[in-house]
Amino acid sequence: MNTPDRETVLDQSARKRTEISRLEADAGRLARVYGGWASSYDLDVSCENYCGPIVVAELAGAVQTAYLPRGRGAITVLDAGCGTGLVGVQLSRLGFRLIDGFDLTEEMAEKARRTGVYCDIQVDVDLNGAPSKYPSASYDITVCCGVFGLGQVRPDGLRELARVTRPNGFVIASTSKQYLEATSFEDEVQHLQHTGVVMPAQCLTYGRYIADEYAHYWVFRIVP
Ligand SMILES: C[S@@+](CC[C@H](N)C(=O)[O-])C[C@H]1O[C@@H](n2cnc3c(N)ncnc32)[C@H](O)[C@@H]1O
Repeated sequence: MNTPDRETVLDQSARKRTEISRLEADAGRLARVYGGWASSYDLDVSCENYCGPIVVAELAGAVQTAYLPRGRGAITVLDAGCGTGLVGVQLSRLGFRLIDGFDLTEEMAEKARRTGVYCDIQVDVDLNGAPSKYPSASYDITVCCGVFGLGQVRPDGLRELARVTRPNGFVIASTSKQYLEATSFEDEVQHLQHTGVVMPAQCLTYGRYIADEYAHYWVFRIVP
């Protein structure tokens, strides 16, 4: 099989993202588009210097070192919207061992399973839908990279991430610059803060993300 040249890959990825940004959080269409992208996703985003998974995993490492007394091997992590498993691979590299994941899309999740770094991966979990089957307060850290993006998960998906994370645990999430500008994510953060659900603990603003796009990387502590 011929390897597509870099320009072609960049062009294809940009078109995919534009298509996704127009899907208005429709779970069926999102799953179809990501299902069709699963086989080339890793190669495509690596051509775009996608560094979101590294930043998110390293923030998880920093939070564990700074705040969580147990060693990394004993910290439970949920990778929400795990895709093909790029975040899980980075978490594993940093010594995390108890990593679960979920995604909307079977084809993406299947690739994540094949990385061998996840204990359990669920599919058909829609962060825009009803609360998932995960019990409340299940995880020490919940990570979510590339999922709060245009056309994908609405800002109130953050509530579900907070629900499944234990008190004094952490949610770490990226939001692309475009997403922040186009949605009420920051209002949602303020609302959850004022209602005593989360406490913003850290935010790397306008960090490198993918290609020439920047993102905020948020760390929230779950209020006990
Ligand atoms: C840009 S990819 C990011 C995947 C991975 N976290 C990464 O950083 O490579 C977005 C992922 O979110 C999933 N997704 C999109 N909308 C979702 C939703 N409403 N609920 C759960 N997952 C969703 C997609 O299936 C896709 O695998």
